Amino acid sequence: MTSTPFIIAIDGQAASGKGTLAKRLAAHFAFAHLDTGALYRAVGVTVLRRGEAPENVEAATAAARSLTPEDLDVLIQDPEIRSAEAGPAASKVSAIPSVRTALFDLQRNFVTHPPGGAAGAVLDGRDIGTVICPEAPAKLFVTASLEIRAERRVKELQNSGKTVNAATVLAEMRERDARDSGRDVAPMVPAPDAFLLDTTTLNADQAFATALAFVQSKMGLTP
Ligand code: DC
Repeated sequence: MTSTPFIIAIDGQAASGKGTLAKRLAAHFAFAHLDTGALYRAVGVTVLRRGEAPENVEAATAAARSLTPEDLDVLIQDPEIRSAEAGPAASKVSAIPSVRTALFDLQRNFVTHPPGGAAGAVLDGRDIGTVICPEAPAKLFVTASLEIRAERRVKELQNSGKTVNAATVLAEMRERDARDSGRDVAPMVPAPDAFLLDTTTLNADQAFATALAFVQSKMGLTP
């Protein structure tokens, strides 16, 4: 008999450091990792490539329905989903209820059957602890000040060779925060049992150490 996978749910704001944390926790425990933002980014980019607006319900729903579990590995590596346009497009398609419904089973399937037979899974996004995995024993909600997050995103885009306007990045991030937390369906809110981690003054190693200690406590392990 195989035991139920151990789920680590990580939600939080754009560029809060949740993705890095999720990757490091997954590597530490040899768990599978799903960046759920990549799903919404892929939907957003597909709609833009088809010349449609991300707010177009039919186009976005069709793009979401066409994603399969087999697409996941390729999708995560696609540099286009990390472009400056992909974030806002993802945020817009993610406010459409039928898009979220179309991506639900894909995410649940990952949780119940982590790829590679892993003993657990780490998912990061906006609604993992509240909607996708309310049963997860370890939930984190990661935040950082708007200025620090915009600075991090500018560096990330510059490191990938892109020319960026810092003021535009900050304005788009502010708008995205408001849209992600203000939408009617699955808004970005901490689950009542989530551990709140503010990374404003933490470097990646400090954030990881704090998150690891929390997860280990939920696993009944002594750090
Ligand atoms: O985490 P990210 O920046 O890659 O996410 C891109 C957008 O996708 C984000 O602005 C909101 C949306 N998203 C969501 O609504 N639910 C998730 N679980 C993950 C992302």
